[in-house]
Amino acid sequence: MEQDNKRGQWGSNIGFLMAAVGSAVGLGNIWGFPYKMGANGGFAFLVIYLLMVAFVGIATMLGELALGRKYGMGVVGTYKLISKKYTWIGWLGFLSGFFILGFYSVLGGYTLRYTLGFLMEIFSAGAGFGGMGSGEFFGSFIINSGGNLLYHGIFMGLTVLIVMGGISGGIEKFTKVAMPALFAMLIIVIIRSVTLEGAFVGLEFMFKPNWNAFSEIGFMKVLKTAAGQMFFSLSLGMGCMITYGSYLSKSENLEKNALIIPIADTIFALCAGLAVMPAVGAFMHQGVEGISFGAGPGLLFVTLHQVFSVGMGGLIGNLFGVLFYFLVFIAAVTSAISLLEVCTAYFIDKRVEKGLDPNRKKITIFTGLAIFAMGALVCLDGLGSGVAGGAAIDPPGLMFGMENIRTAFASWLDFYDMISEGVFMPLGALLMALIIGWSLKTTVIKDEVESSPNVLMKSYKFWDICYKFIVPVGMFFVLMGQLDDFFGLGIF
Ligand code: TRP
Repeated sequence: MEQDNKRGQWGSNIGFLMAAVGSAVGLGNIWGFPYKMGANGGFAFLVIYLLMVAFVGIATMLGELALGRKYGMGVVGTYKLISKKYTWIGWLGFLSGFFILGFYSVLGGYTLRYTLGFLMEIFSAGAGFGGMGSGEFFGSFIINSGGNLLYHGIFMGLTVLIVMGGISGGIEKFTKVAMPALFAMLIIVIIRSVTLEGAFVGLEFMFKPNWNAFSEIGFMKVLKTAAGQMFFSLSLGMGCMITYGSYLSKSENLEKNALIIPIADTIFALCAGLAVMPAVGAFMHQGVEGISFGAGPGLLFVTLHQVFSVGMGGLIGNLFGVLFYFLVFIAAVTSAISLLEVCTAYFIDKRVEKGLDPNRKKITIFTGLAIFAMGALVCLDGLGSGVAGGAAIDPPGLMFGMENIRTAFASWLDFYDMISEGVFMPLGALLMALIIGWSLKTTVIKDEVESSPNVLMKSYKFWDICYKFIVPVGMFFVLMGQLDDFFGLGIF
């Protein structure tokens, strides 16, 4: 118990859920899901995505939460307690935290820049974006290293401030307010978006079932996209949920929690689609220039900027711009704190293990500074002069003998993403599934779930089969898909 107090604990189950859903709901839901769903068969993609969540995502979520609570440690400590020979898997997770947050925080900084931009436009036209069009502004902002560093610094500083406050006094306190606010803001944007003239174009793009997508795009490709999206969106594979689970009291029902988080995340992803795609479709339909369905940073920072500034325009456009980018900013912060906590928890566990009082404030600041430094590299290369130096890879040529491998090194952002999302996390999740299914045996999950008073595991048979067969195959598939994406191996 004393150890629990030193590490911290959630104040309530609802507080834990807000934090965990906050971790899951992030940039992945807003700029990844809507486009991927639309481009990969619409409703048909959704069916595949839901199957992936049901058979792979929920089980992995349950596994992470159960291991975390059982061993009461962060990701490195948990694997070390399972067996010394597995400690390195914990390190994969710990390092992934640094790499993901290293670029996630820079992007989080962008959302802050855009929020302030629209806010200033309300008071004086041109004050926020210097009178530039959306494409021009984005192009000038990404090469503005000083500006990037400033906003990355503010974003990281805020994340550190929240995590410094501890589990219940910082993370839980913030997410309990932020998550309902996020949902409320999202609803307002959805109402505006779906009532625009021509919104049906976006709704059709996103939802219309196109079963032919399976044959046109290739079923394996659609499956790969759904699998990769699912595991990033649910914050799985790097011990985020192990860490959050380690602060959970024995009285809470793990099986129920492992179900609620993915359901909430999927609802948020669909809502994000309803907020974004109808607006894009409407102005495309109305013939506003520079607006089309797209993916990634271009969708979030160029197309949507255009939607608010030119499509909606005027005061209303600026107000919705502020609201939307602030919403994305909040979603990014609640994800960032979970990533930082994975890293901080390691140092805290180490102190507690030695019987010392962990100084959470000092540890968080120190970890935050290290991540800020990593993110600085992302800020300095303007999203693309590359790890190997722009000139070296700019003329198309081979790198390590492979043409497509260049994309993985094209920018520090791509490089960090490749290491974490491309290799460490899917590998970690695959190994975790094998350990639970075949080494520890699934009874470890059952025993942990049933260690709560009056709780019997309802679907043990189902989880057992998931862990032994479906999750390892699913995660192997995710790993192959990610390698394929990042290195252009042409497997799928
Ligand atoms: N799930 C978040 C998103 O959708 C990102 C995130 C937070 C994450 N913590 C994570 C991804 C841990 C993988 C692992 O944006």
